[in-house]
Amino acid sequence: MQFEVFTLLPEVFPSYLETSILKRARDRGLINVRVHNIRDYTHDKHHMTDDTPYGGGGGMVMKPEPVFEAIESVLGRFDYAQDASPQTPPASVSNIPIILLTPQGRVFNQTIAKELSAHPHIALLCGRYEGIDERIREHLVTDEISIGDYVLTGGEIPALILIDAISRLLPNVLGDPTGAEDDSHAMGLLEYPHYTRPPEFRGWHAPEVLLSGDHAKIDKWRRQQALERTFKKRPDMLEKAELTKEDLKFIEKLKAGK
Ligand code: ADE
Repeated sequence: MQFEVFTLLPEVFPSYLETSILKRARDRGLINVRVHNIRDYTHDKHHMTDDTPYGGGGGMVMKPEPVFEAIESVLGRFDYAQDASPQTPPASVSNIPIILLTPQGRVFNQTIAKELSAHPHIALLCGRYEGIDERIREHLVTDEISIGDYVLTGGEIPALILIDAISRLLPNVLGDPTGAEDDSHAMGLLEYPHYTRPPEFRGWHAPEVLLSGDHAKIDKWRRQQALERTFKKRPDMLEKAELTKEDLKFIEKLKAGK
């Protein structure tokens, strides 16, 4: 999978991308991340990427020209003249999502990570300053994503979060082929608790069932633990989770405090 990142702070990316699972995925050619400095696409003496807002007020606004030029020179120029609707990029590029990271976007979650992992090529545009010229949003960007209802100083950390969450869903990126299947959120529930050696630590025991070797029993225990955790910590998730009759019965018991 190919990621194209457009940013004014390219130096933010290498350390994280050169670590652990993402490094291994890059070394094995499973993902490729190219980071493009928007400033390289300015032509004035001062390499200006922002300017004061029309209409006055505080803050600076990201200028449209270098952002359009950066993205078009990497993904291909959009032929707006021949396009019936200037808001719809032509077919050659429209299948590559151009995602603006912004607190105004749809809120990122595991379902969106899965949806995006089906694309072979994605562009991520990191906003900075107080905002971006609206023409970038209207005529260039195809999707807007927020990582939560709070405001950061820019879209760089959100872009890394998307790259991380999407990459680990790709085949062979995680060492364990079932690694992402039981994740919290993957099944619409929080994940069950984990234990490893030693069986007893400071008098605290790992649950007997996990040492029993009885896999049917272990699966049942894990499912019930996932349901109980979700019931206690994120009851909102239960409304959307796919639940069996047995799950529902178990939840009724939890509600009754049994
Ligand atoms: N840029 C600033 N805040 C952000 C957020 N919450 N999500 C995505 N991009 C952002």
